[in-house]
Amino acid sequence: MKRRGVILAGGKGTRLGDLTKVTNKHLLPVGSMPMVFYPLKKLVGAGISEILLVSGTEHMGDFVELLGSGREYGCSLTYRVQDEAGGIAQALGLAAHFCRDAISVVLLGDNIFYDPLGPIVEEASSHPEWAWLTLMKVSDPQRFGVAELQNDRIVSIEEKPAKPKSDYAVLGIYIYPPDVYDIIPELRPSGRGELEITDVNQRFLKQERLGYSLLNNYWTDAGTLDSLAYANQLVRQQPPLF
Ligand code: DAU
Repeated sequence: MKRRGVILAGGKGTRLGDLTKVTNKHLLPVGSMPMVFYPLKKLVGAGISEILLVSGTEHMGDFVELLGSGREYGCSLTYRVQDEAGGIAQALGLAAHFCRDAISVVLLGDNIFYDPLGPIVEEASSHPEWAWLTLMKVSDPQRFGVAELQNDRIVSIEEKPAKPKSDYAVLGIYIYPPDVYDIIPELRPSGRGELEITDVNQRFLKQERLGYSLLNNYWTDAGTLDSLAYANQLVRQQPPLF
């Protein structure tokens, strides 16, 4: 089955205060590039050249101005507007038409990591009917989706649990079969009023169609002042592999 890439670059970015007052989080610099270049180059590096970028109305024009058709970056870009920041799963739902009959390789636009994406996509291809997550041990799991493992299998996933059952964060690197787009319309908003990607992943877990890869190197989100500073430090010390 062919693969298509999805970069989710919407959301409100409220945790960055004045830095995102007049621009979008994913346009802020990380090292020598705007943040959105990192997921874009990861996808292209993994051989995925048909890419959909989702963002809000306010800054979509800036993304188009920055990235154009994608030709300069070795890909073909399509853009879709998410009218309101209704959650990661809602944003992904906008890719339904674009990803019909394809495996969706989905990156959160504020995730910065060292390892190349290709080997993860390769691992996931052993189970093309499954959803495939990427996990990593972190020191602050309560900030993320958390996966509990038993005998190397995921047995539970929780979104930002107060008492995490493990140190394994679910990173913003997701691979889905086409029927993910049948699941999303069935979701209901969470306590924070969003359609949660964790709820999508729980559905696949229930159906025993959930696998994962582990990252071996650094990873961070860049959605807070601290994590944005950390992302800058990481990519300067050791530029990621694309
Ligand atoms: O970074 C990994 C974490 O990302 C996961 O461990 C969590 O399970 C997952 O829920 C998510 O957590 P956050 O609460 O930190 O996600 P955030 O709201 O910061 O959104 C992450 C990216 O998703 C953001 O950079 C843009 C995109 N997004 C988000 C929302 C809410 C959209 O495109 N549209 C949206 O409506």
